[in-house]
Amino acid sequence: MTTPGQPRDSVAAAVTYRLVVVPGDGIGPEVISGGRRVLEAAGRVFGFGFDWTEVRIGGAAIDAYGVALREEDLAACAAADAVYFGAIGDPKYDDPKLKVRPEQALLALRKGLGLYANLRPVTVQPVLQASSPVRESLVAGVDMMIVRELTGGLYFGKPSGQTDGPNGREVVDTLFYTEGEIRRVVKLAFELARGRRKKLTSVDKANVLSSSRLWRTIVDEVKPEYPDVTVEHRLVDACAMMLIQRPAAFDVLVTENLFGDILSDEASVLAGSLGMLPSASIGEKRTAHGVHGLYEPIHGSAPDIAGKDIANPLATILSGAMMLRWSLGQPAAAEAIEAAVAVALAEGYRTPDLVAATGEQPGQKKVGTQAMADAVMAALATQARVGFPTAGPAR
Ligand code: IPM
Ligand code: MG
Repeated sequence: MTTPGQPRDSVAAAVTYRLVVVPGDGIGPEVISGGRRVLEAAGRVFGFGFDWTEVRIGGAAIDAYGVALREEDLAACAAADAVYFGAIGDPKYDDPKLKVRPEQALLALRKGLGLYANLRPVTVQPVLQASSPVRESLVAGVDMMIVRELTGGLYFGKPSGQTDGPNGREVVDTLFYTEGEIRRVVKLAFELARGRRKKLTSVDKANVLSSSRLWRTIVDEVKPEYPDVTVEHRLVDACAMMLIQRPAAFDVLVTENLFGDILSDEASVLAGSLGMLPSASIGEKRTAHGVHGLYEPIHGSAPDIAGKDIANPLATILSGAMMLRWSLGQPAAAEAIEAAVAVALAEGYRTPDLVAATGEQPGQKKVGTQAMADAVMAALATQARVGFPTAGPAR
């Protein structure tokens, strides 16, 4: 095994991780290819390797098998150390009347693997502050972790569906939670806050929804176990506003599934591009190396730019770093990749999404998907020679 943080050039793989990789649809295969190359490069430096099993899920699976997710592929994901996921979704399945849609696969995976917590760190790379549509002085210092409940709430509550009633078509979706489902994600958020700036914002709609009132009650019940963590409750509408007005004030946020879906897309704008933000979805199951999980960029399949080698691979690369940290027990390698991403950006490498906001600046090098991954790998190789950075906050 490699001593964490100790620079090495290349060593024989002492441990091999079994990963399922889901390239998926649209730009998924391109960003995953860049991400895999960076992970392999980190493995060569830190002394581990990968055994990859590629599976088709989403639109690619509907095309090949007629279903978005096959049982055997779910089983393969469950048996792996972790799942590395690109993106799914294709406009040809956009018709709301269709019975089989790519997104069903993602929901079935989350539920089937018990991935109840979705961690979405939002940070703004200093060199990208000017690319954010939000004023630079506001985004400086943004470093938050959104913890979104992922296997309950409106996404999964029953009844859900459309029927014909006496007054025409009727629809229902159900926001259902058990107290256990709320407590486990709230506790995880407290734990994360404890390892960071010790502030937790719980987001709900307790002035209207009973589910939110139980949510709030449980946060207050858990609070005494974490006397070192400051807790605030915010209503989701006010929180949406504050995410733009005072984004640097947030540390850890915890919220139910749909609120988290919406707020995390909003917060991602701060980072300058959706193409920068990684995510981890984790559950209770542990493997030999860490917690079982699924790692994916928060962006979608972006079919309009698919196959052009222009998509930003950094969110996928950073998701790989989260996988090393959470599922594979390689925190030093995770930090090395995160540092290499910062270096590549500081050196001026920019995919088109990162150039759009500011226009091309002197010293910037406009690159495509694979060239950006190459720049990260080069920065990783340089670090391996000159030494690795020290730890930042847990993400
Ligand atoms: C996300 C996405 C998914 C969600 C979609 C694709 C089902 O928006 O991961 O945030 O709503 O959870
Ligand atoms: Mg979303």
